[in-house]
Amino acid sequence: MDALPLSAAIAQLQQHKDQQRWSLRDLFASDPDRAQAFSAEAAGLYLDYSKNLLNAETLQQLLAYADTAGLKERIGALLSGTNINNTEHRPALHTALRFQGEPKTEHEQAVADCRAQMASFVEQVHSGAWTGFTGKRIRHVVNIGIGGSDLGPRMVCEALRPWHNQDLTVHFVANVDGADLSDTIAALPADETLFIVASKSFSTLETRQNALSARQWVLDAGCAESDLEKHFVAVSSNIVAAQDFGIAAQNIFPMWDWVGGRYSLWSAIGLPIALACSFEVYSDLLKGANAMDRHFAEAAFAQNLPVLMALIHFWYRQCWGAGSLAVLPYAQRLAKFPAWLQQLDMESLGKSVTREGQPLPYAAGAVIWGAEGSNGQHSFHQLLHQGTDMIPADFVAIKQPTSELKEQHQWLLACCLSQSQALLRGKSLAEARKELEDSGHTHKEVHQLAPHKVIPGNRPSNTLVVEKLDPYHLGSLLALYEHKVFTFGMLLDINPFDQWGVELGKVLGTAVHSAIAGEIPDDWDGSTALLLQRLLK
Ligand code: F6P
Repeated sequence: MDALPLSAAIAQLQQHKDQQRWSLRDLFASDPDRAQAFSAEAAGLYLDYSKNLLNAETLQQLLAYADTAGLKERIGALLSGTNINNTEHRPALHTALRFQGEPKTEHEQAVADCRAQMASFVEQVHSGAWTGFTGKRIRHVVNIGIGGSDLGPRMVCEALRPWHNQDLTVHFVANVDGADLSDTIAALPADETLFIVASKSFSTLETRQNALSARQWVLDAGCAESDLEKHFVAVSSNIVAAQDFGIAAQNIFPMWDWVGGRYSLWSAIGLPIALACSFEVYSDLLKGANAMDRHFAEAAFAQNLPVLMALIHFWYRQCWGAGSLAVLPYAQRLAKFPAWLQQLDMESLGKSVTREGQPLPYAAGAVIWGAEGSNGQHSFHQLLHQGTDMIPADFVAIKQPTSELKEQHQWLLACCLSQSQALLRGKSLAEARKELEDSGHTHKEVHQLAPHKVIPGNRPSNTLVVEKLDPYHLGSLLALYEHKVFTFGMLLDINPFDQWGVELGKVLGTAVHSAIAGEIPDDWDGSTALLLQRLLK
């Protein structure tokens, strides 16, 4: 795709934006069916996108651009296993990880074999047949991994707490800061603890260091070298490195180069989920994701949830200068959802060149941030309401209560809806003045205070209603965002599947570590050299 259709589409959209005064209050007042018209539903998720600064014409232009950008063909290329990751010459087949029914391709057969290996392992651990070096059953599992080998399973395990197996506790360690590992294992009995070393590459420094320390901890607790295999399994595509570490071949679960790290929770990287809950729960998660995959592949773009969300985000990013997106899940158990989404979105869309390596003259990935509602209301929501930047927000509401405290769930939903309503409505100067006058303030006080009480409003949001926070709907929700991110990447013609910037950090990290033991190279910048000297003093 050359740059012309994109620049022409953005120019047209910009003109469309500049031609009118956008008022959410007016848009709702003039169309009683707006909420109905600007909504869509699939795989147990309902998307209300009516609180956005757009009209039918906007949508029509955005949808036309999706066609020009060849989105249909790109989705086909993704799902059929074309080398869509063109800088690493490989497909991105995370959708194959959640295939249903009988395996039809080589990839699906590999996935089916891996699922069987996982199911058998989970059965052994849950039944107590798998024992540690003293013959006791495993009571604790510690997943050692980082990035995609941590965030997905960690978030899902927390989200699915009601499904947890009561006889086993799953823990997560990611940070190379030794405090992470030592705080986690401090109270654990080594002979009842099993480590999963989760690393696609098996060369990530954080994971390697934590795994080495964990190994030593188990040995120090009295485990013989020959019994280490009872305490370490791995998930990796680097079988040789995992075996060199001392993990028995039969205890290595495969990963494949056609699965990106940030899209890998559906692979054996999801083993902690199956262990924390059950293999059935993990399977239901896959089913929900698969339902969203089918919707993404088949639904017309005008009703396609990931496509709609990507187009709306594209509209704000290109024409409204929105540099960030707030993600606000109104569910305590989804507290780690924004962190998972940050990696997915920002590692995928943090790019500055097109697929062909041409400088990108448009805005690509935005800053993704957020926290669980309602906690965020009492910290950063002030900036959403009255700050100088317009920050679009995604609200996620769970329909069915997530606890026995049903009345609190009603309050939670009230908080969620009232926040998006407040962002939409705001408070005009006249309303602020009247409020102050009605509460008996003097004329002078009204004059002084009213400007501070004005809330611009007209701030856009999506609301996603999830039927229930269960494995199926969670799978569907996560796949929705995966496809949204992919679509956004295709609209800009970038490769959302590589991460060369992260690679540079990894290389320099090793160089700095070498300098700690040796000489500081002459060609270093003065700041890094001085900081290192200071830290080592
Ligand atoms: O952070 C960069 C990254 O390459 C991620 O894409 C990946 O999820 C993470 O490192 C961990 O990599 P690995 O699974 O190979 O240890």
